[in-house]
Amino acid sequence: MSVLHTKGLGKIYSSKGNVSYKALEDIDLKVEAGEFVGVMGPSGSGKTTLLNLLSTIDRPTSGELEINGVNPARLNERKLALFRRRELGFVFQDFNLLDTLSIKENIILPLVLEGVSPRQIDEKLRPIAELLQITAILGKRTYEVSGGQKQRAAIARAIIHQPSLVLADELTGNLDSKSAKDVMDSLKDMNERLKATVLMVTHDPFSASYCQRIVFIKDGKFFSEIRRGSNRQAFFQQILDALSVLGGNFDDVPFARA
Ligand SMILES: Nc1ncnc2c1ncn2[C@@H]1O[C@H](COP(=O)(O)OP(=O)(O)OP(=O)(O)O)[C@@H](O)[C@H]1O
Ligand SMILES: [Mg+2]
Repeated sequence: MSVLHTKGLGKIYSSKGNVSYKALEDIDLKVEAGEFVGVMGPSGSGKTTLLNLLSTIDRPTSGELEINGVNPARLNERKLALFRRRELGFVFQDFNLLDTLSIKENIILPLVLEGVSPRQIDEKLRPIAELLQITAILGKRTYEVSGGQKQRAAIARAIIHQPSLVLADELTGNLDSKSAKDVMDSLKDMNERLKATVLMVTHDPFSASYCQRIVFIKDGKFFSEIRRGSNRQAFFQQILDALSVLGGNFDDVPFARA
């Protein structure tokens, strides 16, 4: 079953001066339940635009989008907000945790908002916290833990309500390489053990090498797609090769890391 399905998805930004810009064009994308998909492309290729459409934060100007069989464009604002809260989980580059709450309070927020009982919340939280190795820091505040721990907490928050789709935007962008590895190992665990369906946008070939499939976009259009075999190292090399064919601005990419 496909969790995400786009057909001819496009986005034209238009500004007051009547200048319009085609940021995304004719994107057909299918993500099956349990998949772990990466989206890569040069700066300005439309990655964030795509993610904003998929996360229903922005609306497409052409084409169709379906998440778990629902077209978010057909929902009113109130239903859309509920849909987003129930069907999607988000992990951002800058963690987006609330500093006034403990790590635990941050993670369980989606369940509290849904009115889930404290006992049920605890039953859901415990195994996820164990898997992500953050049980010991649940009582701490965000400023008392490391960047990698914060991002693992953000992953827990994104999946605790068992969303249909987890969307991640450059989730290792603010992390050193050791923490980035821990975070990617954690996300892969969530994908494999909890069957979370993940779509992530990244610049980083190392993080991308954890995906099962990478979709490359260029100038707002689909460019190519590669699938991972059994070996992550080999996939890392395949990604580097694909990026060099793709061209564009990848100057900030740490190419040496595998
Ligand atoms: N709100 C907007 N109004 C007008 N143009 C926009 C807007 N947002 C993005 N664009 C343009 O659309 C194109 C795609 O932008 P987008 O942010 O999706 O790229 P990206 O792939 O995420 O790039 P980066 O890797 O630098 O984050 C760019 O040319 C950008 O200037
Ligand atoms: Mg972007």
